[in-house]
Amino acid sequence: MNSLTEKSSPSGSVSTEELKPGTTLLQGQYVIKRFLNSGGFGMTYLAHDSLDRKVVIKECFPASMCSRADTVVRARSRAHQKEFRSIVQLFVQEARRLARLKHANIVGVHQVFEDNDTAYMALDYIDGLDLLDIVDGEKEPFGAEELRRILMKILEAIAFIHGQNILHRDISPDNILLDKTGNPILIDFGAAREKATKSSRALSAMLTVKDGYSPQEFYIAGTQQGPASDIYALAATFYHLMTGEPPPNSQTRLAAIAAKRDDPYRPIASRVKNFDRGFLAAIDKALSVFAKDRLQSASEWLDEIDVEKRRAKALADARRDKNIDLSISRLVSETNRAVSEAIGQEDQKDPALNPARGPSSDKSNGPHRNCDEVNRGSAKTDVAAKRWFVKRSSGQSSQSRFSFFGKSRADQLGKANT
Ligand SMILES: Nc1ncnc2c1ncn2[C@@H]1O[C@H](COP(=O)(O)OP(=O)(O)O)[C@@H](O)[C@H]1O
Ligand SMILES: [Mg+2]
Repeated sequence: MNSLTEKSSPSGSVSTEELKPGTTLLQGQYVIKRFLNSGGFGMTYLAHDSLDRKVVIKECFPASMCSRADTVVRARSRAHQKEFRSIVQLFVQEARRLARLKHANIVGVHQVFEDNDTAYMALDYIDGLDLLDIVDGEKEPFGAEELRRILMKILEAIAFIHGQNILHRDISPDNILLDKTGNPILIDFGAAREKATKSSRALSAMLTVKDGYSPQEFYIAGTQQGPASDIYALAATFYHLMTGEPPPNSQTRLAAIAAKRDDPYRPIASRVKNFDRGFLAAIDKALSVFAKDRLQSASEWLDEIDVEKRRAKALADARRDKNIDLSISRLVSETNRAVSEAIGQEDQKDPALNPARGPSSDKSNGPHRNCDEVNRGSAKTDVAAKRWFVKRSSGQSSQSRFSFFGKSRADQLGKANT
């Protein structure tokens, strides 16, 4: 089934002021085919371009301060005029910023333009379903491996945008589309909306939040927001995909904690089976109420769940430890040799141990020969006992060290493979 059905998103409503099918934009370059959604700040349409290809058009339409006369968009009153113009400019700026983000898991922006006294962006049409449609039962639920794959792709996209100092600000199941090949694509960046609420008095009362997905810091104006805010929303999205419902509203959670009541959040690790513990623990951590307790970046999260990366890291650690062990064993044998030599020289000086030759006997026999002689000899002297001790104890310690590392690495690899 096509994702492009008329519907109201969690933040949106069905509009009566939308452009009608057949309306043209940019001197006929685009023809509106169907209204898709209104999100309060803008409207989304399915359209065709001049080559009859499907595109999605987003129109800047902050409904609280503008209305439509025929196709043209006007500020609702003179008082709103200036603000409306600045929102349109903001929309254009943000659309240009998005157009520069080229990534396989981020929707592509074809064009940004002005028409009907407002602004538009034309986006790649993605043939598929959004994750809300899927979790609402329009498709088979996801298996553990498929979810891991989707999450990793989205995390790569988020690492990419955070690397450009851009926050998404509206990650939720309806803002991730899965195309026909199963590739997840992030749409509907909320950064422009957030800036609009900050720059406009008329919009300042509008919270750009989505209950269940938005972290608590989004509910309080002026609170620090950062990569960990997107991390929370992404974890909430996956919590929903895996349990069938979003986590409790983050404000309710914060209020409970402030009142010293239990956090109403039920850890995902207690709710679902068939996922490895590390995968679930990462979601629980990312859903911490306070940003400082969350996973701090998409790459940190990726490291937690990427089995291949974990295996490679465990192997690199094992290799490093092996090198350490080799160095230790070399050090041990060097020490042994040095000690043996020292003892051998002492032996040669000691006539009691070397009665045949005495202290001035032939040095070419060397300490090792001397050492063998002692071991074969009948006199169990202190020196011989010492020598035995040096050899034996260092051998043992080296041996036990190898098996210790061998075991702990094997354990780690075993864990990495889970
Ligand atoms: N590029 C696209 N390709 C296909 N469908 C899209 C695309 N962009 C949006 N949609 C559909 O339209 C819905 C609303 O679009 P969105 O950009 O999320 O606007 P809103 O601000 O109204 O949430 C999405 O949930 C999705 O189902
Ligand atoms: Mg949306």
